[in-house]
Amino acid sequence: MKFFVDTADVAAIKELNDLGMVDGVTTNPSLILKSGRDIAEVTKEICDLVDGPVSAEVVAEKADDMIREGKHLAKIAENITVKVPLTWDGLKACRVLSDEGYMVNVTLCFSAAQALLAAKAGATFISPFIGRLDDINLDGMDLIADIREIYDNYGYETEILAASIRSVSHITDAAKIGADVITAPPSVIKAMANHVLTDKGLAQFNADWAQTGQKIG
Ligand code: E4P
Repeated sequence: MKFFVDTADVAAIKELNDLGMVDGVTTNPSLILKSGRDIAEVTKEICDLVDGPVSAEVVAEKADDMIREGKHLAKIAENITVKVPLTWDGLKACRVLSDEGYMVNVTLCFSAAQALLAAKAGATFISPFIGRLDDINLDGMDLIADIREIYDNYGYETEILAASIRSVSHITDAAKIGADVITAPPSVIKAMANHVLTDKGLAQFNADWAQTGQKIG
C-alpha cells in the first residue's frame, strides 16, 4: 500500500520522508491556507523533497479554466498530479488532461457512481472521502469496498486513493479492502506506531533493567 501525506507542512513531510514512508503528497486549498504559504512556492518545495506524485488542486469551476489552471500547476514540477473536483466539468478536464499525459487525481468523491465516471474519464487516482461520509453517519469504508469491487470487475487502472482519513483504523481497514493508496495527516500516520501494550511492555522492561544495575555499551 502506498502512503501519501495529506498536508502542505513541509517539515512534517520531511520527517516522514526521511523514514522512507512517503510515496506521495496530497494538498488542497484548505491545506494551502493552513500552511500560510504561497501555493507555487510550497508546492515546489514539496515536489523537490518527494519523488512520488504531489497533488495540487485547481480552484476553477469550468472545465476550460480547470485545464488552464491544471497545466499551470503542472509546470511547477514533473511529479505534479492535477487535482480536479468530481463535477461534470471536472470529469471533462480530467479527460483532456489525462489524454495529454498529465496525472489526474479526481477528488471529492462520495459515491461509487462518481468513481466509475472518474475511471472512464481516465483518472490516475480517485479520492473517496471516508471521514466526511462517516461525519454524516454513512460508512465511508463501504464506499472503498464498492469502488474496489467495481474497478476489479472491469480492470480499471485508476488507483483508489482513500482520503479524508481521520484514524489509524481507517488506514488498516482501507488496506484490508485493497485501496491502492491512503492519504492521511502526518499525525495519523505517526499514530500507527502507538499501542498501549507496547508502552506497558516498555515500562516493565525499563523497570526490570534498572534493577539489574547493568549498562549496555
Ligand atoms: C485529500 O486529498 C483530501 O483533500 C483530504 O483527505 C480531505 O480530508 P478532510 O476531510 O479531513 O479535510
